[in-house]
Amino acid sequence: MIHFPDDFVWGTATASYQIEGGWLEGGKGLSIWDAFSHTPGKISDRSTGDVACDHFHRWKDDVALMAALGLKAYRFSISWPRIMPAGRGSLNPDGIRFYSDLIDELLMHGITPWVTLYHWDLPLALQLELDGWLNPRLAESFRDYATVCFAHYGDRVKHWITFNEPWVVSILGYGQGVFAPGRVSTAEPYQAAHTILRAHGMAVREYRERFQAVQRGMIGMTNNCDWREPRTHAPADTAAAERALEFFLGWFGDPLYRGDYPDTMRTRVGDRLPRFTAEEAAMIRGSQDFFGLNHYTTMLASDASSGEILSVQPFGNGGIAEDQEVQLTADPAWAATAMGWAIVPWGLRKLLRWIDRRYGHPAIFLTENGCAFPDVPGEDGVEDEQRIAFLDAYLSACHEAITSGVDLKGYFLWSLMDNFEWSSGYTRRFGIIYVDYATGRRLHKSSAHWYSRLVRDRGFVPLSRNPYRTADGDRSRP
Ligand code: GAL
Repeated sequence: MIHFPDDFVWGTATASYQIEGGWLEGGKGLSIWDAFSHTPGKISDRSTGDVACDHFHRWKDDVALMAALGLKAYRFSISWPRIMPAGRGSLNPDGIRFYSDLIDELLMHGITPWVTLYHWDLPLALQLELDGWLNPRLAESFRDYATVCFAHYGDRVKHWITFNEPWVVSILGYGQGVFAPGRVSTAEPYQAAHTILRAHGMAVREYRERFQAVQRGMIGMTNNCDWREPRTHAPADTAAAERALEFFLGWFGDPLYRGDYPDTMRTRVGDRLPRFTAEEAAMIRGSQDFFGLNHYTTMLASDASSGEILSVQPFGNGGIAEDQEVQLTADPAWAATAMGWAIVPWGLRKLLRWIDRRYGHPAIFLTENGCAFPDVPGEDGVEDEQRIAFLDAYLSACHEAITSGVDLKGYFLWSLMDNFEWSSGYTRRFGIIYVDYATGRRLHKSSAHWYSRLVRDRGFVPLSRNPYRTADGDRSRP
């Protein structure tokens, strides 16, 4: 049996646009994802989040499902335009009430809410009027919206996440243009990220000055990072892998823990990388109470300083490839999920140790980890052995990290239920609960029962045979 600490937090995660639907109900304003999904050509199955899992109407049943599984924590996000339809100014009382009722219902069932303030559904008005995150003034708008949330919910919500995955917002939204708002640029990602970091800093300052002493909650940001393993033992490849991690996680982690972007970024990006004032740097440094991490996969990194950088699917090349001069590839021996993402559990262990070393042993919560597989309902629910094997392997890697001294304190499985998977629409299923979109019906997958037992026992008996639990690639690093 693999045992986790008694106070380890076990939960699942979702996001407003991916599950709620009710896009024009309850006084909600439009978001950039409403506009983006309604733009022909942007979503692979031509779907939208108009209805999604219909959680806007089924939220009580969804909480009851979680309670029946014995889940103890739930990470969800607040839709900014549901609370402030135009992004600033007047509040929507029905929207405020929606999340307030959800929070009460969770607490009544003994489930701790972990609330993300921004999981990508920016009020459309702020995009149209102010150019979204390119405009430095968005930082004040976000701080004001966050303040509304602290004031209305902070008596009951003790775990706040300001932003979900600023890397994705910046690279996929402003660099590659495959996510809302769909912009393509080699400069804008750095500007958007800069505003987001300032917005986070301002919201946290507000929380700490006005709310934290009384409400006694904690606040942080969630960043995503895949592991980058050097493709060979050559020093140039080791350096390339390190550089790729700095451009990925260091981009956000370094300002949060050290007050500025990594030197490599400053040198390579030059004037396209904005600068923090001394006051901003001081505001952002130390502005999180825990390290929120989302992790899904691993790739091999090699030096590409001489020669052309080839684009690899389905990733692009991991960000702004030309600035990094890193070529990413996958080991053909690795199994992959339905997203095409390689299943490499030891990559998570190495990443956790990298964070532990670089940022001085922070408390880490894995705020997302999970997988998509082509789950098909049968007579008695949905058998998803592959997902169980994935979880078995990745949770074993988490446990190894804890044993080696990493302060990993919680795990949120992505996702509670199948949902709108951004540009992939409904074609990718990440849930431990299956959603039949035609009827809205929810069905347990076998992984839901597996996870439920794990939460009850605070551990699990590892599978005797697990094809995903591979030995370390043992390339060059611990
Ligand atoms: C994350 C994101 C989630 C979910 C997941 C699976 O990047 O935060 O919303 O979509 O990936 O792709």
